[in-house]
Amino acid sequence: MSLNDCRLITLPKITNPKGNLTFIEGDDHIPFSIQRVYYLYDVPSGAERGGHAHKALQQLIIAASGSFDITLDDGRQKRTWHMNRPHIGLYVPNMIWREIDNFSSGCVLLVLASHHYDESDYYRDYASFQAAINNQSS
Ligand code: TYD
Repeated sequence: MSLNDCRLITLPKITNPKGNLTFIEGDDHIPFSIQRVYYLYDVPSGAERGGHAHKALQQLIIAASGSFDITLDDGRQKRTWHMNRPHIGLYVPNMIWREIDNFSSGCVLLVLASHHYDESDYYRDYASFQAAINNQSS
């Protein structure tokens, strides 16, 4: 996987003076079936989340409310996105390291995931992630 595989996905948005609505259907609007949903909230000012990559997990990451910065790293290069629109998600495939910070007050970071939680799917150590990338490309 490379940064070229990471991309913003614009989701359907039903606008209404009484409030907007966005919906997401697995295998349709996003390139995987949704097996898990989780969300981060009550994130204190200055907190940093992420700091890991996944062996197999794919995710769509959305600023459901508020904003944050997310930096993706494929082991060769990095890119940062400022996420602040509830109808735009960032597709993060497997084998991509992520760091998330600069959370706004009251931010809700919504994640749709392709698999159930599995700690053995994580690289939590950057050197191990880098070694796995190097092994794949050699
Ligand atoms: P982690 O994925 O490291 O969070 P972040 O990337 O936002 O910093 O998960 C934090 C903790 O929550 C860790 O102990 C694992 C646990 N967890 C679950 O039990 N189930 C889940 O679905 C997720 C995402 C995390």
